[in-house]
Amino acid sequence: MSHPANTETIKPGEARCPGPSTKDIVLADGEALPEALLTESYAFLGDADVSYDAYTSKAFAERELKNLWPKVWQFACREEHLPNPNDSYVYDIGPYSVLIVRQPDGGLKAFINACKHRGMQLQDASAGTIRLRTIRCPFHGWSWGLDGRLLQIPCEWDFPHVDKARFALDEVRLECWAGFVFINLDQNAPPLAQYLEVLPDHFKAWPLQDRHISLHIEKTLPANWKLATEAFLEAYHVLATHPQGLPTAGDANAQYDVFGQHVSRFYHTVGFPSPHLASNHSQEDILASLGGEALGLKLDERGRARLVFADFLRSAFGSEMRVDLTNVSTSEMIDSIEYFLFPNFCVFPGISFPMVYRFRPDPDNVDRSIFDLYFLKPTPKGETPPPAPPPIKLGLDDLFANAAGLPPMLGVIYDQDTGNLARLTRGVKASMKTGQTLGNYQEVRIRHMRQTLDRYLQDDSTQK
Ligand code: FES
Repeated sequence: MSHPANTETIKPGEARCPGPSTKDIVLADGEALPEALLTESYAFLGDADVSYDAYTSKAFAERELKNLWPKVWQFACREEHLPNPNDSYVYDIGPYSVLIVRQPDGGLKAFINACKHRGMQLQDASAGTIRLRTIRCPFHGWSWGLDGRLLQIPCEWDFPHVDKARFALDEVRLECWAGFVFINLDQNAPPLAQYLEVLPDHFKAWPLQDRHISLHIEKTLPANWKLATEAFLEAYHVLATHPQGLPTAGDANAQYDVFGQHVSRFYHTVGFPSPHLASNHSQEDILASLGGEALGLKLDERGRARLVFADFLRSAFGSEMRVDLTNVSTSEMIDSIEYFLFPNFCVFPGISFPMVYRFRPDPDNVDRSIFDLYFLKPTPKGETPPPAPPPIKLGLDDLFANAAGLPPMLGVIYDQDTGNLARLTRGVKASMKTGQTLGNYQEVRIRHMRQTLDRYLQDDSTQK
């Protein structure tokens, strides 16, 4: 249903942008949708300012290193990073480092990436995927089996005090979901399935284990990891930051959901004008804004530009990817549907927007973070996914627009998004306010994330 204009009598969090909602627009497509896309789960979580010191304080970052990062399930890599037995891959998070190894039987194990002799890092993350015979420390050559058992100590006669059984590598919790490899440094953490809350259920409609990484860009960002993450959790900024998208993008009418403690979502439409555009946009205008003229697209009897555009993409992407997209709805083809898993992982199930984000802190600089941007493509039926490509590395001043393989339109958008971050960091530090003031609806995911973070930081013993 369309939402009425705001009135003074409604409760905080109940107000919505006047005009058609995301649900109105996708239902008007007249197509079957997965149950997950029909679900709405907003909750008003308060309206107090959210403190700035979390973004700027070294002491706060220290608390995160102690009580957050060693306690949460986190996306370390994809299964296609380790396609074969004996493959290994390193995941670094702040000062912590984990070595993941594909076992001869096809399973995965993860170990603390530090030598039990004098602490040398066993493998460097920058090496990417490496095929191992044993796990051998480059300093003095102690070596371990792929299962973590200590095999050999050069000059063993000098270490009569070393009980080999006690010098196995320290194993780290590892579980997989939908092709994503997750690790948790907390041996007492709840199972991953519990941590993921609604994700396994919602993603039954989108089996991401049948996709593979087609592009990986790793960029250093000039902002705390939370400021960077939050910049991608709302569409409120589209009006000022991405005005070029207004003729075809839902923004103020995007849908926001919070699920449990760890998961939230936004759902915004493409192929329908922003409510900020008061003037009438005909379906012909919308199709033209989607690039319809250059693509030779024409409105048909259905009279909806987004349906025509989705048909075109089903055919074009289907041929390019060699997959059958016939039964993929218009919404799943073209809309921007982003799930967030606390603390730093976003995943989009759509076909045109098939991104995965990860935001990690720079352990040496509270005002820097590392942003991994992945694109996932469907893997043709019966084929083995190709190995994951090495990351394209972008420094602070490098533009996404220059990254090979990224569609130019998206490069511009990511540059606009990340271009805000240095000024945001400076402004947060200069502000005489003590915190950010969030919209009750459009910015609820930021509040949700910060509230969950506070719970982890307040109590480092409770399982979440
Ligand atoms: Fe690893 Fe010496 S530090 S073998």
